[in-house]
Formats: sequence, structure tokens, C-alpha cells
Amino acid sequence: MKIIVGITGGIAAYKTPALVRLLVKAGHEVRCAATEHALQFVTRPTLETVSQHPLYCDLFEGNGTRTEHISLKDWADMIVVAPASANIIGKVASGIADDALSTLLLAMSGKRVVMCPAMNSEMWAHPAVQRNVATLLSWGIEMVGPADGHLACGTSGTGRMVEPEEIAEAVCGTLPLTGKRWLVTAGPTYERIDSVRFIGNYSSGKMGFALAEALAEAGAEVELVTGPTALKVQHQRIHRTDVESAREMYTAATGLFPTCHGAILSAAVADYRPSECADHKLKKQGDEGMTIQLVQNPDILATLGGMKKEGQRLVGFALETDNEVQNAERKLQRKNLDHIVLNSLRDKGAGFGVDTNKVTIIARDGSHTDSPLLSKKDIARLIVNTVTS
Ligand code: CTP
Repeated sequence: MKIIVGITGGIAAYKTPALVRLLVKAGHEVRCAATEHALQFVTRPTLETVSQHPLYCDLFEGNGTRTEHISLKDWADMIVVAPASANIIGKVASGIADDALSTLLLAMSGKRVVMCPAMNSEMWAHPAVQRNVATLLSWGIEMVGPADGHLACGTSGTGRMVEPEEIAEAVCGTLPLTGKRWLVTAGPTYERIDSVRFIGNYSSGKMGFALAEALAEAGAEVELVTGPTALKVQHQRIHRTDVESAREMYTAATGLFPTCHGAILSAAVADYRPSECADHKLKKQGDEGMTIQLVQNPDILATLGGMKKEGQRLVGFALETDNEVQNAERKLQRKNLDHIVLNSLRDKGAGFGVDTNKVTIIARDGSHTDSPLLSKKDIARLIVNTVTS
């Protein structure tokens, strides 16, 4: 398909290059058309690089005929405007054509037009915007979003641009991981001492659940094997298996891996378990203290590394305190991984329990991707994009 991606001035424009990449990766030809204000949020070189074509932004530059809006319209099968500001929605509803993108949009009659609104929730709720949206809908223009959630202005409500993966799905019905199956391990493991006690750790499972959601949003069927956690799964493409101990996780993961295209092991697996588990509650043993003998658990990641077949991808996590990068790189080699995600414990806001994280993704070829401190959801999307591309 030949798709024009229109971009207007809103903070969500920083996500538009990801949308363009998804469409190009899915085999579509893409040209970008931006308003001047859009270029305050995303740069011309970025859009030209991801689309591999010059950007259309000015009515009076381009092919010299001053009719590029008409030749672009003739070339395209459809246009998707992401983000679509209140301003562009209002202009189209009122028939105003005072720049390249609005002129192009008025010329698009007979072609599919999709708008992905993004604005503050009060602007979205304004009667003028609602009236304009209703007008556009009555003409057959499609609206994708806006979604609920946190907004750049610091409030939350309806107004977020829908994520690029969902826009791509709405626009052309293909997601980058459609037809792929991925395995994710998440959460802690509990290693039983007796009928009422266990050895565990502080892992909340948030990172693993966010990874499962990011993979599902990208179209994959996800096998989520999770240790004990209160978290709920949100997506119909996520199939959940609950386990308690490292050995149960091992059995589930090794059973599922052969039918998967890849696996991301983010679980905090206990390296050791009590050598014996009493089937009753152990009694206190007095002043001399108590010793619990531990034996090693199987290494699930290393086992999958040994099982890995041509075409399968394997991603592990590493939590290091000294020589972080060097140790992570060694772990990647030793366990036969394609990527390793190095968790930072040095940064405030990263690690167990919190909603944010900061990571370095190290690839087998030695390349590094450093993330800023982001929400675990955004880190998950970054990891999924990096390890599946
Ligand atoms: N892992 C696993 N099975 C285990 C232990 C760890 O699958 N029994 C996986 C984790 O899910 C993670 C990775 O291995 O993806 C790294 O775990 P980590 O504890 O950092 O490393 P170890 O290999 O245990 O090495 P060390 O503790 O010596 O650093």
C-alpha cells in the first residue's frame, strides 16, 4: 500500500517515526507530510530517513509545479494523521487549507483518511472539537483513539495518541510479530522450606508482564510463565502459566520453548533451593540456631541456550554490581544468548518493585542500546523492538 503519514504539532509526534518504521517494515511505501509545528517535536531528517523520501511540509517547495499536494494525493492509497491535533481536525471540518498538510487533506476526497487524535483531555472534551470529530466521522473519516492514560501536560485522561503498533494494526491490519510465538518468564520463584515457609525474592513481575504485553501489542502470541505475583494479564494473546518454584518454571519453559520463535527470560529465579522440604511446619530448634542445606536449581536460561535452534532468539537479563558490562557480555556468550538486558541497580528508580527502569541492551555483535529512565512499559517496548528487529 502507498501511505502518507501526516504529522501535526503535538508531543506524541516523537512516536511517529516508530509508526513509519512499522509501516515500512510491513512492506508499505510511506511518504511523510508535516506541519511546521510538527517539526518542533520531530525532525525532518528523522522523518526523511525512516520513510526514505523527502518530507512534504511547504506548499511552495518540492517538484516546482506547486501542485505536489495533488500528485501526492494521486500517488497515495490513504493518509493517516498521527498525531492529529485539535487544530488539524478543526481545519478539515471547516474546509480550511492554509498549509501543505491541510491542503493535502482537502484534496484527499475518495481516499481513505485516518486521524489519530492526541491532545489534552479538556481540549478533546471541548464541544467544538467533539462537533468537528462528529463532522469528520460523518464524512467517512476514521478516528483511531485517543486512548486513556497519562498525558504530557502532567494530568491523565482521554487524549493520548494510540500506540504506533495499534495504529499500524488499525491502518493495515498487520503487526510486526503477527504469527510469531514468544515465551516470557516473569516474577520471583518460591522455594519451599516446609508446608508454610519459603525462600523468595522481591521481584514483582512488573517487567516480565510489561514485556508480555509489549510482545502481544506487537502481534505475537505470548506464553507467559510466571512465578507468584498479584499482577493480572491484560491481553487476549497472552497465555499464562502460573508456577511456584524454579523447577516448575524450568519444566514449563523447556516444554514451551521448542514451539516459540523466541524467549525473554526476565524472571528472578532462585539459584538455590532447600535440599529437603518438610511436609509439616518445622518446629523451633532452640538457641543453637538452624541450618538449611541448599542445593542448586537448574539454570533455565542456559538450558534454553543449549536447546536453541536456527532462527530462534533468546534474551536474558543480568543484574550485576561490578564490571557490569563485561560480566553481562560473558553471560551472553556462556548462555548462548542473542541479547542480554543489563539492569542497573545504581540508578534511582530502577530495579525491583518500582514502576520505572533503566537498562542497557547488549547484542551478540557487541552493539549497545542505552535507555534513559523510563516506565517499565516503555522499557518493555524498547526491548521488544530491539530484540525482534
Ligand atoms: N535465570 C534462569 N534460571 C536460573 C537463574 C537465572 O533462567 N536458575 C535467568 C534469569 O531469568 C535471567 C538470567 O538468568 O534472565 C540472569 O540471572 P542472574 O541471576 O543475573 O545470573 P546468573 O546466571 O544466576 O549468574 P550470577 O548469579 O552468577 O551472576
